[in-house]
Amino acid sequence: MLKALKGMKDILPPDSRKFRYFIDNTTKIVEKYGFSFSQTPILEETSLFKRSVGESSDIVGKEMYQFIDKGGNDVCLRPEGTAGVVRSFVEHKLDRKGGINRLFYYGPMFRYERPQKGRFRQFHQFGVESFGESNPLEDVNVIVMLKEILDFFKINYTLQLNSLGCPNCMPPFREKLIETLNNIDGLCSDCLRRKDTNPIRVFDCKNKNCQTLLKDAPRLNQHLCKSCQDDFEVVQKTLDSLSIEYEIDPNLVRGLDYYSKSAFEFVSGDLGAQNAVAGGGRYDKLVEFLDGRPTPAVGFAIGVERVLDMINIEEDEREGYYFGALVAEAITPLFKTASKQRESSKVLIGYEAKSLKAHLKAADRANARYCAIIGEDELKDNKVWVKDLITKEDHFIDIKQ
Ligand code: HAM
Repeated sequence: MLKALKGMKDILPPDSRKFRYFIDNTTKIVEKYGFSFSQTPILEETSLFKRSVGESSDIVGKEMYQFIDKGGNDVCLRPEGTAGVVRSFVEHKLDRKGGINRLFYYGPMFRYERPQKGRFRQFHQFGVESFGESNPLEDVNVIVMLKEILDFFKINYTLQLNSLGCPNCMPPFREKLIETLNNIDGLCSDCLRRKDTNPIRVFDCKNKNCQTLLKDAPRLNQHLCKSCQDDFEVVQKTLDSLSIEYEIDPNLVRGLDYYSKSAFEFVSGDLGAQNAVAGGGRYDKLVEFLDGRPTPAVGFAIGVERVLDMINIEEDEREGYYFGALVAEAITPLFKTASKQRESSKVLIGYEAKSLKAHLKAADRANARYCAIIGEDELKDNKVWVKDLITKEDHFIDIKQ
């Protein structure tokens, strides 16, 4: 039997109903904040992700679905959404128009990771990207919006916050950190590699021994320049004034290279080891880095499967009509009547003449609210017999009605 690939799953009813419930309600919330729908291709040039997410990241270094297409182009399935949205923003010259552009998207992402609970090779993200606003209040705005989304779905979470500095404070800090790392013996091979490629990634190491060894290493948020410090303070003070709780996590470095200043994650104790429900931050240099005009930006992405794992929705209520014919001659008028009724409600049709009992059973299975029947007598009198499958009441209605 053919099966879906490892780490990839089908989304069928009733789970698909939950998926739509999430997308529809999240869309309504982000539209209230002025975000507009956007869509970019799933396949992009590999170099886009190398230049944005970064070659030193696990996502690009180890997890890309990368191949050479029939035209000899080096392409890959997108591992995340931000890079494609920025590419599209620059390609369509939105960076030249100025002003604020707020975009949202959802769709499949691909990472060749070891599958486990909450971690897939094909998964979905719902993401937002806000371009053109350097005020740190926009960071707060997207955090407030993300909180509203998670609250809507009654998800328990903790907000973790950090500042990753900027090209002013990052390089001297990097030097300082490398100096410290050079004096530590016993780091794992991954951390030794990180030391040469992107040293701040060492704080992301899950190895307990490395965490102990790094306990006294300098942290970026204690070495921020004045501008980064001020912005980080505005973010914290505004969150305080809105009574939004958060933890400062100096080890939060995110797994992608493009961030500067604010970085945040919403984690949930109700998930297993993969406890991040959503993550994001500011990336003021990425547009410029991908050949656009300097444009500040901030955004986040939610892991859809992780949210779906934590939400319950009520069973579908009975809805609409099921139409059935008792005799073959009734099928054509039934089809006409049913099609007319579909202008105002959900309608399913039984294509073959059957007994009343068989139609009632089919209506029940289809979860219809009403079973509408046309037999010989109804045909003669231009009537339809209708039974309400909740109240169990039945009556005749004129076909024209
Ligand atoms: P990310 O933290 O790599 O950020 O991913 C965002 C979310 O996607 C995670 O918090 C998690 O819920 C979900 N996720 C990631 N990998 C998997 C997986 N293998 N299986 C299931 N869910 C997963 C980004 O991708 C950035 N582009 C977010 C962003 C947007 N930053 C600024 N704008």
